[in-house]
Amino acid sequence: MPTLDERHAAAQTALNAAGQSHVLAHYDALTEAQRTALLAEVEGIDWPEVTRLIETHVKQKPVFAIPEGLEPAPWYPHTPPDRDKPRYAQARTHGETLIAEGKVAAFTVAGGQGTRLGWDGPKGTFPATPIRGLPLFACFAEYLQKAEEKYGAPVPWYVMTSPINDAPTRAFFEEHHHFGLDPANVMIFPQAMMPAIDMATHRVLLKSPHALALSPNGHGGSLKALWTSGAIADMKKRGVEQISYSQVDNPIVRMLDPLFIGLHALDHAQMSSKMLPKAFPKEKLGNFCLVKGKMTVIEYSNLPDALAEQRTDDGELRFRAGSIALHAIRTDFVETLNTGADGFSLPFNRAEKKVAHWDHAAQQTVTPDTPNAVKLETFVFDALPMTDASIIYETDRVDEFGPIKNADVPGTVETDSPASSKQLQTERAARWLESRGVTVPRTADGVVDATLEIKQTTAIYPEDLAEIDLPNAVAAGSELLL
Ligand code: UTP
Repeated sequence: MPTLDERHAAAQTALNAAGQSHVLAHYDALTEAQRTALLAEVEGIDWPEVTRLIETHVKQKPVFAIPEGLEPAPWYPHTPPDRDKPRYAQARTHGETLIAEGKVAAFTVAGGQGTRLGWDGPKGTFPATPIRGLPLFACFAEYLQKAEEKYGAPVPWYVMTSPINDAPTRAFFEEHHHFGLDPANVMIFPQAMMPAIDMATHRVLLKSPHALALSPNGHGGSLKALWTSGAIADMKKRGVEQISYSQVDNPIVRMLDPLFIGLHALDHAQMSSKMLPKAFPKEKLGNFCLVKGKMTVIEYSNLPDALAEQRTDDGELRFRAGSIALHAIRTDFVETLNTGADGFSLPFNRAEKKVAHWDHAAQQTVTPDTPNAVKLETFVFDALPMTDASIIYETDRVDEFGPIKNADVPGTVETDSPASSKQLQTERAARWLESRGVTVPRTADGVVDATLEIKQTTAIYPEDLAEIDLPNAVAAGSELLL
């Protein structure tokens, strides 16, 4: 074990080489506990990488060039043509078998800061459902309980946090007794962090005299954290072969979709994705494309209008496969990425943000009004071009896309907000009930005139409703919880 002085010397050398010696300039004035905490943060950062990124992403804005020969990626449609129906049936059965054999793990990335929502706590603790106000983590736990009952096997659940929200996330799981799940099957681990860098001085910012201004390194960090945390080793021990990846913000996500997992597995894909057809050309979803045959996501902001608006002969958008951040990933793909001879890194993305920081001269925290810093993040979909095989499956918007990203705005239904998600959850419940012959009241413009919530322990597919007694009709303006 190196002594504190030895660690200090090593950290100082690394920081000097990176041109960031200011980080330890006031080290002597710190208490021992503060010194230890600051050194641990410094040791957790790859300083040569930060130095390189300052040159490429802070001193200049990286210029995005549309790759040559960009084409729309093909996908498996939601409703298969007749000739593919046997393939879909085979895939669904295969996916169900993999889940029943314990070979599929659920994985939730929950390390983000959720700044747009502005909720005081990890986003997974946000009340998301229309009647019970069930927190997002509890929605997922209910889904897994139903899946365990349906497929007859426990599903291991991995949750990625960040050092910022790890402790409150763990406390929430403890406080709620893991929402009825076996704690032995729930693994929580944090992702790595990156320092925020001052746009004017190119120096990393401090949050206090003894702490860096750090933020999580993007959901792409999950592919490293799965490895460094020991999650992949744990999966191998359990015989898990596939990871079903989803985000923390979507209460109705199918955390395990046998059809999608089956299509992905039968095609020997390493990392696959679900897509939604974009509702309009510039909808804020990444675009699934092929570049020299490799699956690639081009962000909506990088797809030129001319391409975004291109139409096929039948009038559909040519680039219409939008990414909704749902993936199936082979565990051995994650292992290969992390054990390759040349290491592995995903491209970093630059975001200009307002970052509060410690001003040592003024002895106070400065809270800027305009963006003052660059944050650097990687995106998980940037691993897609590293695959040899990758498939896309089209899902249904109402069935599984009700994300909560933005805060509610009184008097309106903001896109991707708690209000829009609750509306969508009610609409989904209405469709499922209607598919079982229940009359649901709707206004003249088709909006459901009631508040409906179907617990995921009751149903994760409409056909699950066959097992319970349903009313013949829902009363207008009423609330119905099933
Ligand atoms: P978002 O892109 O919505 O970012 O994350 P965010 O940080 O949660 O929210 P804003 O932008 O500050 O409002 C999409 C998903 O990726 C996870 C989030 O928790 C969410 O499930 N994520 C994001 C991470 O796990 N780590 C990160 O570093 C970033």
